[in-house]
Amino acid sequence: MINDLLTPTMLIDRDRLQGNIKRMQQVCDAHQTELWPHIKTHKMVEVARMQLTAGAKGLVCAKLSEAEAILPSGVQRIFIAHSLVDHRLAPRLSALGRAIDLLIVAATSYEQVQALGSLLEAARMRLQILVAVDTGLGREGTRSDDDTLRVVHYVQKHENMVLRGFYTHEGHTYGARPEETDACIDGVVQQLTALREKVGEPLELWPGCSVTADRMAARQGVTAVRPGTYVFGDLSLTAKHDVMRWDDLAATVLTTVVDRPTKELALVDAGSKTLSGDKTAEGLSGSLFDRRYAHVTKCSEEHGWTTGADVDTLKIGERVRLVPAHICPAINLANEVKVISGDEVVDTWLVDARGCVQ
Ligand SMILES: Cc1ncc(COP(=O)(O)O)c(C=O)c1O
Repeated sequence: MINDLLTPTMLIDRDRLQGNIKRMQQVCDAHQTELWPHIKTHKMVEVARMQLTAGAKGLVCAKLSEAEAILPSGVQRIFIAHSLVDHRLAPRLSALGRAIDLLIVAATSYEQVQALGSLLEAARMRLQILVAVDTGLGREGTRSDDDTLRVVHYVQKHENMVLRGFYTHEGHTYGARPEETDACIDGVVQQLTALREKVGEPLELWPGCSVTADRMAARQGVTAVRPGTYVFGDLSLTAKHDVMRWDDLAATVLTTVVDRPTKELALVDAGSKTLSGDKTAEGLSGSLFDRRYAHVTKCSEEHGWTTGADVDTLKIGERVRLVPAHICPAINLANEVKVISGDEVVDTWLVDARGCVQ
């Protein structure tokens, strides 16, 4: 029973998780768009297996070690969506390439793709390449058409590279107003389609984060989408964007109210070492899952400072579930999660790729 667990503990609602995986897969299947879930959110072999069984075409990983840790899921197709440059990675990249059927890597700028070329030569590998295009986030990815074409031509000429298409992470849609999201999706698809026309080859287009994936999957010309957060959800996906219903949230942190130092403040036993340091744009680290108006507005390492109109309803010793602001870094702080169905604890899953950031 959940009641028997010590706190803080990360809880995963198995039925909701299964529902989220199934819904995204159904949307993609309906439009014959490939689903390549990003595993950085869950980092768990068990969840990867569920995604692959539901029909995911492959998995996206941020780092090589994350990909290595997820291999027991049986995955045969992996896209590493990160800027690989370090020649020291050559032996491990080569081993990963031998372990699966298809390994795709990212070309994210002209300087990076040259370092990637040296890495592939050192690893004696010929890999498929997706070229990153910046569509507004301002992180990795080419910044202009000329930039993109330079990278494309480099890839086309390099013996160790096979050009597969373009990808983009439109993470800036998290900050956009919900009513602007469709226009943003149109812009991204147009930008990628125009680039493909300029290159004049039937290249694949891979956009789609959790805010946009279901709508991206329906767009003409989109090959694959790569959402990650959709499996569990968090405040970033429910509070503002409404792309996920509160009742579909699958990950919560079970905490105990450990003190009530003042009338306006309750302290829970989950701080930044459990919820992570990430906050919503409104400054929340977490909110009460039962929807009482009380939020963790400040964290020290082992305390969540909980305030809000309903804080006086929180009693010392009471156990409350929190929805974290950003689930991905919170999962990365847990060794294991407790899997629940209703009030029952039905399983314990290891966070297999926890801390795999190399
Ligand atoms: C390259 C890349 N692809 C896909 C995703 C998944 O996006 P989301 O977290 O919205 O599911 C991310 C998230 O950071 C990403 O960086």
